[in-house]
Amino acid sequence: MPNIDLLAMHKLFLQNHIKPGGTVADFTMGNGHDTAWLADAVGEGGHVYAFDIQTQALEHTRARLTEAGLIDRCTLICDSHANAANYIKEPICAGVFNLGYLPGGDRTKTTLCASTKIAVETAISLCAKDGIILIAVYPGHEEGTREGEMLDSMLAALDHRSFSVSRLRIINSPTSPFFFAVERHDVERHDVERH
Ligand SMILES: C[S@@+](CC[C@H](N)C(=O)[O-])C[C@H]1O[C@@H](n2cnc3c(N)ncnc32)[C@H](O)[C@@H]1O
Repeated sequence: MPNIDLLAMHKLFLQNHIKPGGTVADFTMGNGHDTAWLADAVGEGGHVYAFDIQTQALEHTRARLTEAGLIDRCTLICDSHANAANYIKEPICAGVFNLGYLPGGDRTKTTLCASTKIAVETAISLCAKDGIILIAVYPGHEEGTREGEMLDSMLAALDHRSFSVSRLRIINSPTSPFFFAVERHDVERHDVERH
């Protein structure tokens, strides 16, 4: 088993960008673990938009957030993340994708390459200066492998003067989950001549 705790690494990245009072998005709500974490991180004045295509996900997440006293700062949306631009009209300081299907849930309700591409493009276009988009990929199944390859080429083409894109991957365990962190610079960088 690999030693890297993906979730702990996620949070390290996110913590550097989330501002109290900020707006963030959970693009794959599931059972709401990330939604709740994000809602706590933005504090009372912040807001979380969360998306899922399964009503069951909204029910579980609503219960979790209500129990934790966080529901008032969240908008739960039963729609594809590919339609996020219809709902979010302000810059986000963080956006989280946890691709794939719910562990123990319906495997046919997995994220799909085509809609993931649109959703990640939308998330990047909504990303505030100094914001972050974090995408966890699960290459242990076919669609996850395709999503990883698609994101690899799409994100490698992002303008380096505006974004830094990192990929954290265990290279000797190819089916282990990995993630991309897309960090937007607070000021656009200019090319420097290298000698
Ligand atoms: C790996 S789970 C997310 C787990 C979640 N982060 C949690 O804390 O429980 C992936 C979720 O993405 C959802 N999903 C699949 N396609 C989607 C789409 N087009 N838009 C939004 N959510 C989608 C699935 O229904 C599933 O709940």
